Amino acid sequence: MPEAPEPNPPIAGLRDTRTPQPCSLVIFGGSGDLAKRKLLPALYNLALDGVLPANFAVVGLGRREMSDAAYRSFAREGIERFSRRPLDATHWQNFERSVYYQRGSLDDPATYQALEKRLQEVEAACGIPGNRIFYLSIPPSLFRTGIEQLRASGLGVQPEAAGPFARVIVEKPVGHDLESAQEINATLARSFREEQVYRIDHYLGKETVQNILVLRFGNAIFEPLWNQKYVDHVQLTVAEEEGIGTRALYYEEAGALRDIVQNHILQVLSLVAMEPPWSLDPEVVRDNKLEVLKCLRPMREEDVETHSVRAQYGAGFHHGDAVPGYRQEEGVESDSTTETYVALKVFIDNWRWAGVPFYIRTAKRLPKRATEVAVQFKDVPHVLFNADRAAPLEPNVLVLRIQPDEGLSLGICTKRPGPRVQLYPVKMDFRYGSTFGDQSAEAYERLLLDVMAGDATLFIRRDAVEASWAWITPVLDAWQASAQRWLPQYDAGSWGPVEADRLIATSGATWRTL
Ligand code: BG6
Repeated sequence: MPEAPEPNPPIAGLRDTRTPQPCSLVIFGGSGDLAKRKLLPALYNLALDGVLPANFAVVGLGRREMSDAAYRSFAREGIERFSRRPLDATHWQNFERSVYYQRGSLDDPATYQALEKRLQEVEAACGIPGNRIFYLSIPPSLFRTGIEQLRASGLGVQPEAAGPFARVIVEKPVGHDLESAQEINATLARSFREEQVYRIDHYLGKETVQNILVLRFGNAIFEPLWNQKYVDHVQLTVAEEEGIGTRALYYEEAGALRDIVQNHILQVLSLVAMEPPWSLDPEVVRDNKLEVLKCLRPMREEDVETHSVRAQYGAGFHHGDAVPGYRQEEGVESDSTTETYVALKVFIDNWRWAGVPFYIRTAKRLPKRATEVAVQFKDVPHVLFNADRAAPLEPNVLVLRIQPDEGLSLGICTKRPGPRVQLYPVKMDFRYGSTFGDQSAEAYERLLLDVMAGDATLFIRRDAVEASWAWITPVLDAWQASAQRWLPQYDAGSWGPVEADRLIATSGATWRTL
């Protein structure tokens, strides 16, 4: 395996100079799925790496009756099952001492008084100077109550001047349409200043997503080509193998457009399409990303018909095993019209991207898990090697593989060795795994550390959340109106409905085979 060369020194902003501050992290929904699968394992891995602040505690807040010891077992179980690195007995012993549990229900003011008391005890025991982070890992319907009670109890108050901080992390989805997102944001704004609020989108914590900016602005060769003169189209795919599992309650309300496109995909799209920021200051980067969202061509009702495809998986196969269709999943209505597949043709109406289609697709129950961005460049002129229009040369495609098999590849044409001139497509390929060896940190590790350090670069600002909902909501409305009329099905384990192939064929392109 080739050794990774010495890296350049860390760069301030996007941000290696960040220092996590001593703090306690309260997880609202502490006995829930996200805490178990992602948050507690992420904290444990940060502890393994020795990067958690020395004075740190995590307090799970949940409705269930549980002792600290029982919550530690819950955390241990989560870590044993879901941590990217196995549980190490010595490290665990140290880590578990910082894990606490508090019972309470979010709508009961007594919960917050008890929490205040508990936090004071924990802070005294762990030497924490009153810095607090509240992670709202709760259903959106409870956001409002949680936020308002935090304010009413005084727990979320952060003095303007220097002093202990209070920060709040809000899980996606923030709302289910523009209006509800605005309401949640307004509720947040009544209780917190915007700089206290961290709206999380875990895609932004993925190494490969952060690498988009480095690739674009840390290299000389891509940026000159990164525009409508040279780019034919872009494909952005988030393909998932799994069905909805046990999340019917959430997914029936959400669907693929709200679950993935409104947040993960539009965030990645913003990074791919944004103008170069003049600095890596969080506000500058976020301003430039916001510009992309503002330039998305609005979808009028008639565009939704021609520029979007929604579909739902029917029964099929997953790794050879028969799996049910969406409507047969537990908790799903037998006549549900929730989409599990979305394909969109999107335009960004600015100077750089005028006329370049961005094709987006995401779905559950596809044959393979793969997230990637593929930038397809325009054909070389139809002379010389590309003179034969019946057998055109393969276009150059730059593929950013976000997961799994993280890396990037560039497809180019070469001459096949031999006496005749025969062209052959090859790939220049970079793989994180073989270059850097180590497994990348989980997105939540990076993002939790950023909140502890007060670095909001990788979090979504209020205006960006609302801009993305402003673009998405008309699509939802148009679908709502036509839901009963038209909802193609695709077999679980297939690549989606034929309508999606027709959508991309409008540009003479085809979806990439992943
Ligand atoms: C979550 C969605 O935000 O992202 C899930 O709610 C989806 O439905 C998940 O499966 C995908 O995340 P990842 O990191 O596995 O690509």
